[in-house]
Amino acid sequence: MTALETFKTLQSSDFGRFLGGLDHLLCAVMELGHIAGMILLLASVLLTSLNLLGLGLRNVPLAQIERSTARLFWTGLALLVVSGLLIFIPAATSYYPNDFFWAKFVLLGLALLVYLTLYRRVAAAESRGALLAKTTGGLVLSLWIGVAFAGRFIGFF
Ligand code: HEM
Repeated sequence: MTALETFKTLQSSDFGRFLGGLDHLLCAVMELGHIAGMILLLASVLLTSLNLLGLGLRNVPLAQIERSTARLFWTGLALLVVSGLLIFIPAATSYYPNDFFWAKFVLLGLALLVYLTLYRRVAAAESRGALLAKTTGGLVLSLWIGVAFAGRFIGFF
């Protein structure tokens, strides 16, 4: 099954048509859920990345910031996935030709990969070289902000 056929199947499914028939107020609630999820996730990413970049909370060990903000990250991501799918499913085929939609998911895949591999290893290390810390902090921050911008640009193109 091609991506377009999958999108068509999702949109024309009973659930897709149910979502498509919902009141606009509920759609606005899903958008708000998406923005709230993004604020939680980016708050966590910002605090840990600024620490790695040596720009914020320099006297607080990264492991402590990571422990305090991990729940923000995962709650934010869960909210983004659920609200994003509820926005996506009833209008799936309209996103298929949108380059920013695809760019967003390539960036999202890269952001998750770097977060779950390089960032995790650097955050867990007792000590880390300044160059590795700054590179990791800059990469993590740029990828997640890139996802957010691509998400915003979807509506403009
Ligand atoms: C599986 C995960 C996700 C799905 C399925 C998803 C899906 C969507 C969809 C369908 C839209 C609406 C686009 C439009 O019609 O204008 C959207 C908008 C957006 N997304 Fe996501 N998204 C996901 C994850 C994320 C993440 C991780 C971020 C940020 C870190 C993000 C940030 C945004 C932003 C900023 C918008 C624009 C919101 C607005 O204009 O009101 N999304 N997303």
